[in-house]
Amino acid sequence: MKSNKYKRLVNFDTNQNYPRHSWFDIKEGYSTDLVKNVLLDLKIKKQDGYIMDPFSGSGTSVLASSILGYQSIGIEVNPFLYFLSKIKCVNYSNKFYLLLNNFKKLDIKKQSLSEVPKLSISKKLFKNQLNEILRIKNWIKQIKDKNCKELFFCAYLCSLDKASFAKKDGNGLKYPKNKVPLKFKNVFVNNLEKFIEDTKKVKIDKKPLIFQGNNLQILNQRSFEKKYRNKISLCVFSPPYANCFDYTEVYKTELWFGDFVKEYKDLRNLRNKTLSSHLNKTFADVKILKEIIPYIDKIKIKKLWSKKIINMLINYFYEMDILLSKLNTLIRKNGKCVIVVGNSSYGNVAIPTDEILKNLGRKNGFKNNYIIQARKLGTSSQQYKKIDNSNMLRESLVVLSK
Ligand SMILES: C[S@@+](CC[C@H](N)C(=O)[O-])C[C@H]1O[C@@H](n2cnc3c(N)ncnc32)[C@H](O)[C@@H]1O
Repeated sequence: MKSNKYKRLVNFDTNQNYPRHSWFDIKEGYSTDLVKNVLLDLKIKKQDGYIMDPFSGSGTSVLASSILGYQSIGIEVNPFLYFLSKIKCVNYSNKFYLLLNNFKKLDIKKQSLSEVPKLSISKKLFKNQLNEILRIKNWIKQIKDKNCKELFFCAYLCSLDKASFAKKDGNGLKYPKNKVPLKFKNVFVNNLEKFIEDTKKVKIDKKPLIFQGNNLQILNQRSFEKKYRNKISLCVFSPPYANCFDYTEVYKTELWFGDFVKEYKDLRNLRNKTLSSHLNKTFADVKILKEIIPYIDKIKIKKLWSKKIINMLINYFYEMDILLSKLNTLIRKNGKCVIVVGNSSYGNVAIPTDEILKNLGRKNGFKNNYIIQARKLGTSSQQYKKIDNSNMLRESLVVLSK
């Protein structure tokens, strides 16, 4: 099934128009309107149970649900994105202006410096703004009131991008020659003013529960299963696509400057907790699911740019299979699971992640499963011709029913 409705909604852009949702631009996110449309189309009622997103990222699903009055649960492994999503979902009282005015009058040069993060590119990212950024961070760390401190720190993290020489680009950071970094202090003040206004404008009706960690580990906890078994009415999420992009690399500025990662070993640990969608982790030796054997057979005879790709794909689907089995236990009868995913290709062979997930859904007890094609994935027409089953290069919604 094809649907034009979802074409624009599988990316984050439209969130720029929405209070709270627009605080941080997460390229891999989807639109709050996608969540609203899914809730409407699938007739999910507030009293039916929780809305859950096990890959909650910047919190689009939980924020959309909680504004609409649905109870929701999110799980996110990246501590920066977890923090951001939590702060986006708080109702604040109006005590920020005094502090903001104090900040505006502050002589930043007189503040002490916080430590330079051990990230090797710290200086390259901010050059002559680095010290000012570290002084502002130190000032925020000393704010006594917890709510103020967290909102200010969130605005600080959301301001780093515009003040840096780097640009988030696919699998990491690039340094475009034409990028002119903005003055950090101005971006920070503008963000804070916007955040404060947004929290006044849009109230959170039902505060979501957001957990930080590897979703497979969290869903495996007996207490979690006992509490939420048959209690989820809709699980809506977008896992990292099997495209080798490592989000811990894309968000490394925020991870290090937010002190979420202090040593390179912390980064390695974090990567090992993420879904096997990239090559920067140690893979387990797991069995190959029969659903992916035909694709593995096709690509293993091709020359791939990394020997780890096959192992990544084997682990990716192995983990998604376990996840679907856990979700099936948690989702209530007639409840739904909607997975927003893009397919990938290796050695000119398309890997139809959506089809494979649909089949894994059936294996794990979901029925009446179908795929809605939201849009074709862009690649050059020359490349297109070379790819076996190129019609599979698409981004889709996989809809599963319990
Ligand atoms: C495509 S993004 C989701 C974006 C989200 N829909 C939004 O709009 O902000 C996928 C997220 O899954 C997270 N993730 C990857 N592996 C995970 C795991 N094992 N457990 C929990 N979250 C994970 C990534 O850090 C990333 O934030």
